[in-house]
Amino acid sequence: MPIVIGAKQESSFGDPVGLLTDCHRRIERFLGVLGRVCELAGGGPLTTEQRGALDTALRYFREAAPKHTADEEKTLFPRLRTLDSPAAKAILARVDELEAQHGVADESHAEIDRLGMAWLTAGNLTPEDAGRMASQIAALREMYKGHIAAEEREVFPVASAEFDQAARDAMGGEMAARRGQQWPAAPDSAAAIFAANR
Ligand SMILES: [Fe+2]
Ligand SMILES: [Fe+2]
Repeated sequence: MPIVIGAKQESSFGDPVGLLTDCHRRIERFLGVLGRVCELAGGGPLTTEQRGALDTALRYFREAAPKHTADEEKTLFPRLRTLDSPAAKAILARVDELEAQHGVADESHAEIDRLGMAWLTAGNLTPEDAGRMASQIAALREMYKGHIAAEEREVFPVASAEFDQAARDAMGGEMAARRGQQWPAAPDSAAAIFAANR
């Protein structure tokens, strides 16, 4: 069975909460890829397809997923903590729990990355390391199940309901900058010249 790793980006920086939700689907998909490679190859020799899938999933968690964590810890959670509304105050303890879980997840990701890179380099893993990698991935999948459900059912709805347009725009701008992009996009030069000469 082919290991599917591609996906389209569904939301834009104009919908920061939608973007965060899209990231969750990618986290789930790439965790599934890691689990599937472990299940199929069990620490033994990798097919070309398995090697590519493992490399892509490890790179996703090494390079892209930390930006999602930063989106939450630096862009979303601080704004929720400054909201003066009963709905926001009711979820602050949950937000603290979620932030603490990020630290636990980071340690697991680091261990999985170390083992996965060793697998790619050596071509196989010892049975102990293969078992450790599989159990780390299973534990992470279980943790993310509750973590993502809490964010999507309890936290994101408060953000969607309570943030005004200015807050959403600021969040989109920060998330774009984190990815080396500008949002909203700068007006193109023709439009700028036209506007300047009106
Ligand atoms: Fe999170
Ligand atoms: Fe998240």
